[in-house]
Amino acid sequence: MNAIIQPSDRSPGPPPEPPLALLAELTHRCPLRCPYCSNPVELTRVAAELDTATWARVFREAAALGCLQVHLSGGEPTARRDIAEIVRAASEAGLYTNLITAGVLIDAAMMARLAEAGLDHVQLSVQDTEPGSAERIGGYRNALPKKLACAQLVRDAGLPLTLNAVVHRQNLDRLPEMIALALELGAGRLEVAHVQYYGWALANRDALLPTRAQLEAATAEVTRAREDLKGRLVIDYVVPDYYAKRPKSCMGGWGRRFLAVSPAGRVLPCHAAESLPGFDFPNVREVSLREAWENSEAFNRFRGTGWMKEPCRSCARAEIDWGGCRCQAFALTGDAAATDPACGLSPDHALLDMAVREAAASEGDFTYRVMGAAPQKA
Ligand code: SF4
Ligand code: FES
Repeated sequence: MNAIIQPSDRSPGPPPEPPLALLAELTHRCPLRCPYCSNPVELTRVAAELDTATWARVFREAAALGCLQVHLSGGEPTARRDIAEIVRAASEAGLYTNLITAGVLIDAAMMARLAEAGLDHVQLSVQDTEPGSAERIGGYRNALPKKLACAQLVRDAGLPLTLNAVVHRQNLDRLPEMIALALELGAGRLEVAHVQYYGWALANRDALLPTRAQLEAATAEVTRAREDLKGRLVIDYVVPDYYAKRPKSCMGGWGRRFLAVSPAGRVLPCHAAESLPGFDFPNVREVSLREAWENSEAFNRFRGTGWMKEPCRSCARAEIDWGGCRCQAFALTGDAAATDPACGLSPDHALLDMAVREAAASEGDFTYRVMGAAPQKA
């Protein structure tokens, strides 16, 4: 698997193909306080957010660049008063619109406006199937009943629904109930998404990392459910990095398939990239999306394989996983160009084993954040 490829065979980064999808991070505001939030530690204030007209231009530029779909995300995208206008602008630009929401702010009137504006799909997050635990994980009262009501509104509007269950040590044992909930709500797809440990989630890693026994039980449950529910429910599931032998191809490779625009307009190869130091990310207030995608140094820095060090440089998987995740490499080693420590061939792989041992010994308390306030333990 580790066949030698000479460095001269490595591409320095060919001209990029068009991106498939745009992640539009409309705001960092959110009524929930999930301890695994992947937004940057420094959040954008409302006054610095892009306005409706600028988002509309960004959507037109994304479509002209070749994007097929836009994920309207945050934070909580429905915290924006102009969310329906934003959906309409994306839809009129010809993009397939997916709203990624916690669901607690959506009432019948808002759902009607969103559907009328051209919304194509809703991806609803759930923190747990047990109401008290859902409330504690999201730091939001009555979260679960509000989400269930939102799911019903989505179905009533005739829109397809995906349930997104972010799983970790404190809810993974209820995976069978999450699968049952997805069926009950009429979701066509369930994403079982293990927490990614960068941004705020890294501060809560000890409380969130599942045990190996939990992971094995969950993997067996997904295998069984996929077989039993063929044709009724699609289940997305990837083994979490901390137990994987090889890393995931994060974002399908840096600057290869996706681009994100932050609430303040920064164009990013992934939603977490703002946490990487030494980058001058282009901003849609100053450059077009095409210019950012095709010519910016930030996008070109980790494109292709020319930037790689060993062991990636001579690895047969270099153009399969693209060296893993740059944000995780930086979060764990301080070097964004390092091999992702999730790879068993990385010299830093022992960091993950150590984190698993430390997490197993921890009490499991969360550190929550509040915009503009110091971190809070609970
Ligand atoms: Fe190979 Fe690097 Fe991927 Fe590990 S991260 S499998 S060394 S390309
Ligand atoms: Fe940024 Fe993986 S999350 S490259």
